[in-house]
Amino acid sequence: MKFWKLAVVAAALSASALAGAQEIKARFGTSLPDSHPQTLGARKFAELVEAKTKGHIKITVYSAGQLGSDMQMQAALQGGTQEFTAPSTATLAGLVKEFGVIGLPFSFASEQEADAVLDGPFGKKLLAQLPARGLVGLAFWENGFRNVTNSKRPIVRAEDIAGLKVRTMQNNLYIDMFGGLGANAVPMAVTELFTALESRAVDAQENPYTVVYAQKFYDVQKYLSTTGHAYDALTLLVSRKFWDRLSAPDQKAVQDAALEATAYERQTSRELNARLRGELTRLGMQINDVSPQERARMREKLQPVIAKYTAGAGEEAAKEFFAAIEQARKH
Ligand code: PAF
Repeated sequence: MKFWKLAVVAAALSASALAGAQEIKARFGTSLPDSHPQTLGARKFAELVEAKTKGHIKITVYSAGQLGSDMQMQAALQGGTQEFTAPSTATLAGLVKEFGVIGLPFSFASEQEADAVLDGPFGKKLLAQLPARGLVGLAFWENGFRNVTNSKRPIVRAEDIAGLKVRTMQNNLYIDMFGGLGANAVPMAVTELFTALESRAVDAQENPYTVVYAQKFYDVQKYLSTTGHAYDALTLLVSRKFWDRLSAPDQKAVQDAALEATAYERQTSRELNARLRGELTRLGMQINDVSPQERARMREKLQPVIAKYTAGAGEEAAKEFFAAIEQARKH
């Protein structure tokens, strides 16, 4: 009798231990190849999560759009069929309009300013809006300052953009931004972009050095002009359906890993940006600096677009966004 009692207790204990130790598998999809900080950050994050959970949570990274475009992956997270991704805040703006302020042209003056705004109360308030949309935002990563590349001519003056067929992200602000500079904006997923540039379906695109390099745009684009027209952040997202199933210690481990991976991703992005200009020149691109006066002229031309999207993101969010930038500038 005693023996049977003991056997039942032992069986129950080992069953619960098994449940606790059960391996949790998750997928992290990125839209860019392995050499871009988005995917390097994803791999570092996966490594950290596995270490912090002692192998309990295993994340496999699928890079370069293997799981779909940014918009498709974002929707898959909402539906609970994929666990992690890190799209541009421009992609998220389709879901939560307040995210749109990040891409407002010529807002940030430096990466450090962006860090202060995104890591501060303003960024936290943005992330707090995601759970209601089936997503949990763990941190902001860096894509960086965006520059125009094209196959036709250097952009020296604001007017040089006019008439170019420019691929933009699938985001109304970016479509109107390039429309406002006289270009024909052609929205499409980044995963289709190389072919579109190669076949000359579009003349131009706009992205930071890191994307130009990782996507090998130097093979199909001659000119890179440092327009620096917008700063772009990525949001490290997890599916809420997945998140809610994690235990509190697992959630903490994932959140801690996100913080560490954020420092790594931003540092990698900045180190790469600093050396890729030389590398892209070596690979045959002609790089020209756009003067501060021409940037100011571009900003002037974009005033109606800035006004439209400042209002579109909501008065309160826009006010808080600009106040947070002012605050960051004082420090
Ligand atoms: O151009 C884009 O689509 C974006 O910069 C990025 C980060 C490559 C994809 O989200």
